[in-house]
Amino acid sequence: MSSTIIAPPGLTTTRAPFIEQAQQDGQLYIHQPYEQYSDANHDAWRRLYTRMQDRWARYANPRFLQGLDTLQLNPDRVPRLEEVNRFMEPRTGFRAKPVSGYVPAFLFFDSLRKREFPTTITIRDGATLDYLPEPDIFHDIAGHVPMHTDAAFADALVRFGDCAHTAAEHVAEAHDSEEAARRATSIITAMARFFWFTVEFGLMHGPEGRGIKAYGSGLLSSYGELAHSVDSPEVQRYPIQLEWVINQGFEIDRFQPLLFVVNGFEHLFELVGELERWMRHGKLDNVAPGEPALSEADVRSFLEAKRGLD
Ligand SMILES: [Fe+2]
Repeated sequence: MSSTIIAPPGLTTTRAPFIEQAQQDGQLYIHQPYEQYSDANHDAWRRLYTRMQDRWARYANPRFLQGLDTLQLNPDRVPRLEEVNRFMEPRTGFRAKPVSGYVPAFLFFDSLRKREFPTTITIRDGATLDYLPEPDIFHDIAGHVPMHTDAAFADALVRFGDCAHTAAEHVAEAHDSEEAARRATSIITAMARFFWFTVEFGLMHGPEGRGIKAYGSGLLSSYGELAHSVDSPEVQRYPIQLEWVINQGFEIDRFQPLLFVVNGFEHLFELVGELERWMRHGKLDNVAPGEPALSEADVRSFLEAKRGLD
């Protein structure tokens, strides 16, 4: 009898049969079929992780470095989400929850409220380590999740998730459906911009206000942009201002030319509180139109959310 070793199909971004099947079946929440990662997938993780180490030591904020320590990720293998959760959950209650693709805005923010982080399980192709428009497991686990081990940051995320409920209530109070759709579009745009300029691309003053460190996951998962965000004279860095952030568009496919700096995670938490107050008072109903482009599913998710909340 002869035996053949069948190579696993791989979980490469945009080329994973397991993900295609889940999407066809309309399954958003999935499991992580760990045995399907190919050697090339593990190799991509190892190369991504290894080259970041010096950059993290130099540019990441101290809480991120502590988070990496807590998670004890294996530099050589794609992480198992169950193991990540075993280290993370006791700290802040946050859990990485595997998803098959895009999570509509309300559902995404509501997950944060429940301390669940929708997490991509595919990994980028090793031939294109640098640029990837889609999130992948390196971005989600090595960029986001170490921050979720920090109590102050985790509380800010949960509070941001609460905002989605406030938003849904505010949208439902609109006098007609056209006004509701308009409010939803404006508020989601404001929330997406806030999220982008903080959780994804935020900078922070270093200890005692000296120096600048990164805490945004888009920076922390990018070899080129992490150094650029802190060192380059081409980047404009400003103390964060809420009215500016919610009206500021952005493009996703280039190094960010404009970044905002917070003083610390307590500051971030206060800003989310301010965002929620503004929302309640209708101050997010008319933000500047423009990027990011929203999908119909994003808007619908907020319009339909109130029904689910009652
Ligand atoms: Fe992200």
